[in-house]
Amino acid sequence: MKTIGSGYLALASALMIGAGALAQAEGKTADEVSHKAFEEKLAYCKTCHGVSGQGFHGAFPMPRLAGQQPEYIENQLKAFIDRRRTNPVMGNVAHVLNPEMVKKLSESFNKLDPAPLGGAPKALAAAGKTIYENGVESANVPPCASCHGPEGKGDGQFPRLAGQLNDYVIRKLTNWEKERGQKPANPDSSAIMQPIAHNLTQQQIAEVAAYVSYLK
Ligand code: HEC
Ligand code: HEC
Repeated sequence: MKTIGSGYLALASALMIGAGALAQAEGKTADEVSHKAFEEKLAYCKTCHGVSGQGFHGAFPMPRLAGQQPEYIENQLKAFIDRRRTNPVMGNVAHVLNPEMVKKLSESFNKLDPAPLGGAPKALAAAGKTIYENGVESANVPPCASCHGPEGKGDGQFPRLAGQLNDYVIRKLTNWEKERGQKPANPDSSAIMQPIAHNLTQQQIAEVAAYVSYLK
């Protein structure tokens, strides 16, 4: 039904009067999201996250959502709603979304595949690749690839890092403890990353952020 215009839908439902109309009425739950409401919400997300979900380098970075794992997107939206993850913008954006809308938006962003925005210092990427693939043994940092995948595509609750904005990744790794897992009574998957972010130096963060930002 996704690509069918509302005019057609009106006609179709007029023709369905009878047994079909009753079935259709029963299918309407409080969480059901109309095509129009979904399209409007998606367009709204894209005003910040980019028309192709590619992200945007603004006064502060808007992360790439294109190709992101749906489960990760859903987890983060829930974390913003519960204020386990703090962000003044996304807390307010997320708390009005119902579960059906969250699911549809997550699936829609996952299907997008624009080229990475780029812009990171290329000279840092080689050292970043070594950290990404081998970790930093002396600092007890495991290979990023072991969880985020050899090409940074992510898997389920492990986010895609490929093509993620360099400045966004730097900020997240630098501020992990202040932004994620902020409800200790209700611990979440952010705890897995906490020691890793903590043990990386600022230089190592810049290197690995540069490397992943160029992955396609
Ligand atoms: C006014 C701008 C704005 C709008 C509109 C907006 N976002 Fe965001 N979003 C942000 C910013 C800024 C961040 C980064 C927050 C941070 O730095 O932790 C973000 C982060 C996110 C994240 C976390 C990404 C990650 O990699 O962890 C998700 C998921 C997300 N937004 C989904 C959405 C969805 C879905 C919508 C539409 C319903 C939306 N956003 C609308 C600005 C916006
Ligand atoms: C043991 C598994 C594991 C390893 C190893 C790991 N990560 Fe993660 N990472 C995660 C999980 C899980 C999340 C999602 C956390 C959440 O749900 O808040 C994450 C989230 C992230 C994020 C936030 C993404 C976003 O869009 O906001 C960044 C950046 C990140 N990891 C970078 C790295 C880097 C760089 C390395 C290697 C130095 C690394 N990770 C190693 C499990 C891992």
